[in-house]
Amino acid sequence: MAEIRIRNTNERISGEANVKAFLDKQEVLYEHWNATKLPVELQGKFSLTDEEKSQILATFDEEIRDLASRRGYQTWDIVALSDATPNLDELLKKFEQVHTHTEDEVRAITAGKGIFIIKGTDDVGYFDVELEAGDVISVPEHKPHFFTLMENRQIVAVRLFIETEGWIAHPFEDPTFQKA
Ligand SMILES: [Fe+2]
Repeated sequence: MAEIRIRNTNERISGEANVKAFLDKQEVLYEHWNATKLPVELQGKFSLTDEEKSQILATFDEEIRDLASRRGYQTWDIVALSDATPNLDELLKKFEQVHTHTEDEVRAITAGKGIFIIKGTDDVGYFDVELEAGDVISVPEHKPHFFTLMENRQIVAVRLFIETEGWIAHPFEDPTFQKA
C-alpha cells in the first residue's frame, strides 16, 4: 500500500484511506489493483521477455480497460527497470529532474517499488509517494514531478497513455526544490 512522506516536515501518511484522502486533495489519482493475481514467478521478475510482458498485460486486462475507459487512455505497455537494465544509473539521473507533461502520467505497479516526488499545493510543498505492487497512480498534466526507484532498485509497471507524444518531459526549473 502506498505511503506519503512530506519533504518539508518529514511527516508520513499511511493507511489506504489516509493516503487516498491526501492524494485526492492534491488531485492525484490513487487506486489499487490485486497484484497477487500475477503468477508468482512474475511477481519477483524484473527482466522480462516480450511474452512475459504480454502475460502481465493479459493478467490485468480488465483493470487496464476499466481505467482506460474511465480516463481516455488509448495505449498501454509495460516498463521494467532493475540492475539488469543497461545504463540504469544514467537513466535514473535523467529521471530525477523535476518536469511536467501535457498529459497525466499513469503507472500501475505490478512488481517491485518506486517513488513519485510531486510538487503539492503551496501549504504542502514537495511530497514523496512510495508505491508498491498493486498501487495505481496518475500525476495530473502540468503538475511538476519526477519518478525514481527505491533502495531495491527494481520495478515493473503498466504505463497508460492518451497519446504517446503527450508524455514528453518538459523540464521544470524550481529553485525551491531540495533533493532529499
Ligand atoms: Fe514524468
